[in-house]
Amino acid sequence: MRSQPARYVGSMLRQKVVIAGGSGFLGISLACHLAKHGASVVILSRRPPKVTGPWQHVGWDGRSLGPWQQELHEATGVVNLAGRSVDCVKTPEHRDEILRSRVEATLVLGEAMRVVESPPPVWVQMSTAHIYGDPPSLVCTETSPPGYGLAPFVGRAWEEAFASGVLPSQRGVVLRTSFVLGRNRGAGGGALTTLARLARLGLGGRVGRGSQGMSWLHEEDMNRLFARALTDSNMRGAYIATAPTPVSQVDFMRAMRRAVGMPIGLPAPAWMVRFGAHWLLRTDPELALCGRYVVSQRLQSEGFEFRFAQLAPALKDLLQRH
Ligand SMILES: NC(=O)c1ccc[n+]([C@@H]2O[C@H](COP(=O)([O-])OP(=O)(O)OC[C@H]3O[C@@H](n4cnc5c(N)ncnc54)[C@H](OP(=O)(O)O)[C@@H]3O)[C@@H](O)[C@H]2O)c1
Repeated sequence: MRSQPARYVGSMLRQKVVIAGGSGFLGISLACHLAKHGASVVILSRRPPKVTGPWQHVGWDGRSLGPWQQELHEATGVVNLAGRSVDCVKTPEHRDEILRSRVEATLVLGEAMRVVESPPPVWVQMSTAHIYGDPPSLVCTETSPPGYGLAPFVGRAWEEAFASGVLPSQRGVVLRTSFVLGRNRGAGGGALTTLARLARLGLGGRVGRGSQGMSWLHEEDMNRLFARALTDSNMRGAYIATAPTPVSQVDFMRAMRRAVGMPIGLPAPAWMVRFGAHWLLRTDPELALCGRYVVSQRLQSEGFEFRFAQLAPALKDLLQRH
């Protein structure tokens, strides 16, 4: 994989990219990036995006064929992001929806590939770095085995649905993505928005043991990686999408406090996080109490150049311009 901006921009000009599940945080960020480089973008989602921009929105239900499938005909690439947010209390209903939304949307995309006359030659599939579970200190790479628990189970099912849906003639790229740090363009800003708010309130300290890994990626590098996967015929198979410098939760929040100019960060023991996450933030405390250290051997060996390889400049870029 080489860094060739001119070729990259030139090839994006001729692209029509369909982003399934493109109405949320990452989809809108990617749509803006691709459109800026000259691609025409179609977003497939159940509801129209909350913001308007340089894309066309087409409705689907994420589980059955319909008129939307024609958007795949002669598209140059598809990126599949569809999936219910994991940022919620894990009731049985939510667990079910987290799994089904990903697997069903991926399976129906695979069905659609088989009914359109000229399907896109490349399919870039979202997956999760959480597929490796929550090992406390082990550094996982693409060759590490999957971990244990709901997220690894969902990640595997998601990737299996992709493997059964991608056409033999298609180039398939799977991005096992870590925590993406980005801006809120009106369609959500991911977990960074919440963490920055807590840090500004002086609550951005140690959580639980504090040694749990936080693997992260700046949205600009995420978008450059999506674009590279769409245009670089050498990319194929599973990659971990993450910056090369994962840090512990304590170090992450220290960098966050510096970025927002808050000297104090009160610690939160595990019992307090469990109570606050469930009753105040209505989310899953394990998202804060557990974590993982992942790095990508493949991106490194294929020469992907990160604009934001270190956390402090990434946070500064995102938080000090707000
Ligand atoms: N943000 C991150 O740091 C991160 C990291 C790793 C992986 N990911 C994955 O990347 C994908 C996009 O992330 P995001 O942060 O952009 O999430 P998001 O803002 O919650 O957007 C989720 C997208 O999925 C669609 N969706 C939600 N529930 C659905 C359902 N039941 N059936 C079909 N589509 C559904 C949404 O559109 P409609 O509801 O209108 O259909 C939306 O387009 C997700 O699958 C997420 O798990 C994100």
